[in-house]
Amino acid sequence: MTRVGVVGAGVVGQVYAGLLHQAGVNVTLIARGERLPELGTGIRLECARPALSSGSVRVPVADAAALPPVDVLILAVRAHQLREAAALADSATAPVVVTLMHLTGGAAELSARVGAGRLVRAFPGLGGRRGPDGVVHWTPVKQQPTTVDAHAVHGQEMATLLRRTRLPVVTEPRMSDWLATHAVLVASLGAGVLRAGGDPVRLAEDPVLMRQTIDAIRNGFRALRERDQDVRPPNLATLFGPVPPRFARLYWQHALRTDVGTLSIAPHVRASARDEFPGVCRTALTHTGGDASPLPPGSNRISLRTRSTNCLG
Ligand SMILES: NC(=O)c1ccc[n+]([C@@H]2O[C@H](COP(=O)([O-])OP(=O)(O)OC[C@H]3O[C@@H](n4cnc5c(N)ncnc54)[C@H](OP(=O)(O)O)[C@@H]3O)[C@@H](O)[C@H]2O)c1
Repeated sequence: MTRVGVVGAGVVGQVYAGLLHQAGVNVTLIARGERLPELGTGIRLECARPALSSGSVRVPVADAAALPPVDVLILAVRAHQLREAAALADSATAPVVVTLMHLTGGAAELSARVGAGRLVRAFPGLGGRRGPDGVVHWTPVKQQPTTVDAHAVHGQEMATLLRRTRLPVVTEPRMSDWLATHAVLVASLGAGVLRAGGDPVRLAEDPVLMRQTIDAIRNGFRALRERDQDVRPPNLATLFGPVPPRFARLYWQHALRTDVGTLSIAPHVRASARDEFPGVCRTALTHTGGDASPLPPGSNRISLRTRSTNCLG
């Protein structure tokens, strides 16, 4: 039976490891530090959708310092932790390494390190937060299923493995473009949320900030297209393309008030505002032209150009 190791006992790692374990997959959650003893009695999941996994799950746990051999190593850490987590791929000698996370600037280095043939880039289709009591509150994101690089050597095989979670999984033929699109989307929405004091509902209720956020996404996507990148998936391309901006505004004003905003986007943006999120902003800038802001200077207070600094403070 395929042995799966999930590195990172945070929100994403715990939910995927828990769901795979419940499906009968031989999976080990690989943790470190204070998290280790606390996981010994099982992980505790609380899903916002009642039909999905909640309760305590006794997933086997291993110390990252004493990694068991695995066939598939899933990395579910924050982007700035990637280098250290990727080093585990060397010791695990896993034939396949899957990333379920933002890669920001680390994709090329990771690919060189583990070898393109072993690497499968993927992205989680859920969001959540870990409460002070250790319970992981999570929700699947209907609009963004787990997304797996269709052209990776082991892409289809890993999509099949991840489908055992019973979460929707899609394969993406243009994964680099998908990740670039996602960076622009998250950087813009995240900056908007942080500007609204970290509160997604306040953002939804602030017409000026909301318009600026939507404009930032539209301009970012336009810059991607000008640089010959596809906006992926197509539903996002439509919402922020030919359709009048008010539709995107209405859509996000609603979504930000639901668990998409309050559970999936805002808690992680707040939690990573000083480590991973600035890297996501820099990635968005890189893909949209860096200093050549997609907006005329001064025309938009949260243009991609200013966002990388504003989101820090
Ligand atoms: N949370 C969400 O809603 C969400 C949604 C979509 C995508 N994502 C993305 O998914 C990725 C993971 O996010 P997350 O929210 O799960 O992060 P998280 O809650 O911060 O969890 C990351 C975990 O990985 C651990 N870790 C880091 N390096 C490690 C290593 N070398 N060995 C063992 N454990 C290690 C961390 O331990 P320490 O605490 O010791 O650092 C932490 O427990 C990020 O790229 C994020 O942007 C998150």
